[in-house]
Amino acid sequence: MKIENLQRIEAMIVQAILGGPALVQYRAGDISAAVLRPWAIKIRQMAESYTGERGGKNNPRPEVSAEAYCLYYLIPNVERLSAVLSHIPTTFFERELHVLDYGCGPGTAALTLIEGQRGYPLTIVGVDSSSRMLQLAQKIVPSLAPGSAQVTWQGASSLAAAGAKKFDLIILANVINEVPTSELHSLLSSIADRLAEGGVIVLLEPAMFEATRSLMTARDALLRKFARLSPIYPCTHRQDCPMLRLSTQDWCHNCIDWERPKLLRQLDELTGFTKHRLKYSAVVLGLGAALKDGLRVVTIPDRNKHSWWATVCGEGVYGDAVLEKRKVSVDNSCFKKVELHDHIQIENMEEGRKIGSSSVVRVIPQYSCK
Ligand SMILES: C[S@@+](CC[C@H](N)C(=O)[O-])C[C@H]1O[C@@H](n2cnc3c(N)ncnc32)[C@H](O)[C@@H]1O
Repeated sequence: MKIENLQRIEAMIVQAILGGPALVQYRAGDISAAVLRPWAIKIRQMAESYTGERGGKNNPRPEVSAEAYCLYYLIPNVERLSAVLSHIPTTFFERELHVLDYGCGPGTAALTLIEGQRGYPLTIVGVDSSSRMLQLAQKIVPSLAPGSAQVTWQGASSLAAAGAKKFDLIILANVINEVPTSELHSLLSSIADRLAEGGVIVLLEPAMFEATRSLMTARDALLRKFARLSPIYPCTHRQDCPMLRLSTQDWCHNCIDWERPKLLRQLDELTGFTKHRLKYSAVVLGLGAALKDGLRVVTIPDRNKHSWWATVCGEGVYGDAVLEKRKVSVDNSCFKKVELHDHIQIENMEEGRKIGSSSVVRVIPQYSCK
C-alpha cells in the first residue's frame, strides 16, 4: 500500500496544529524556525520519554505531547504502516473492510487506509485512552477525506467501547510498548478474539530492542493461544520465535528508504534527529491464513573476501546461511544481493546452512532480486 502524497497529509497537520499563517508559509516554502523551535523542544522531550530507561514503556502525557507527536511522528508512522500493509496480499483490500485501530492516536491508521485504499468502503473504529489524541484525529482525518470512510472514535481504553462486532483488519500501531506488561497479553488476546474469519491483525512497533522483543513475545503468545492464526509477515512458521531463544542481542526489524516531506526535514534540522531511513518492527497474523514457505532474512546481510552470509529464519531453520565465493553459481548468485527482511527460498541447502553449487536461491516476489 503506497501513500503517494505525504505532503498533502503534512499540510493538513500544519493547518490543524500550527494554524493558517504557518500553512501559508509551508505552501510557499519552509515554515519559519521561530514557529517550529518550541515544537522541536517538545519533540526532543517526547523522544526521550520513548527511548528512556524502559525502552518507551512510559506513556508521554498526551496533553503535553499529542500535537508534538502529530507534527513529528504521524507521517513516519503512516509510511511505516503502509510498508507493513504491503505485506498483505492486495486482494485483501479490494473489498469493504471493517477496521479496528486500537490506540489510534491522531488517526494514523485511518489516514493510511483512506489514502492508500481508494474506492472501497471502509468502516474504521478508532479507540484511544487519550481524549486529546482523539480530538486531533477528529480534526485531521475528516479534513483529509471528507465522507470517503465511516470513521468513529471511541474515547475509552476498554475494548467494550468497540462494540461486539468482528473486524477484518485490526491494527495496533506503536501501542504495545505503552501497555503495562501485566495487562498486555490479556488485552491482545481479547482484541484478537474480535478478528473475523480471514481477518488480519497488524502489530507495529518502533524498532527498538526492548519494544521489538516484547512484540516477538506477544507474537508467540498469540500463536500459542489461537491455533488458527498464522503469520503473514515476517515469519514463515508458527513455532516460537527462535531469535528470542537463540540470540540475546538481535531484534527482528526492517528498514525502509523514503523521501522525507519538508516539515519532517525542517524538524530534523531543529531537533538534531534524523528520519532519513525508517525502521520498524512488525508482526502480521491472519486468521486462517496459509503459511508462506521459505525463509526470512532477519539480519543485515554481510560479506568478506571469501563469502556472503545472512541470518535466515524459517520452519526449523535459524542461523547464518553462508555462500562461499567458490560455490557461487547462476542459480545461487542471487544470495549475494539479498537484503534485510527479503523473503527467500533456498533449495538443496547443505548441512550447516551452507549454500552449495547445486543450491538454488530465489527471492520471492513482492521482493525482486535487487
Ligand atoms: C505512540 S501512540 C501511537 C498512535 C498511533 N497508533 C500511531 O501509530 O501513530 C500510542 C497511543 O496509544 C494510546 N494508548 C496507550 N495505552 C492505551 C490503552 N491501554 N488503550 C487505548 N489506547 C492506549 C495512547 O493514548 C496513544 O495515543
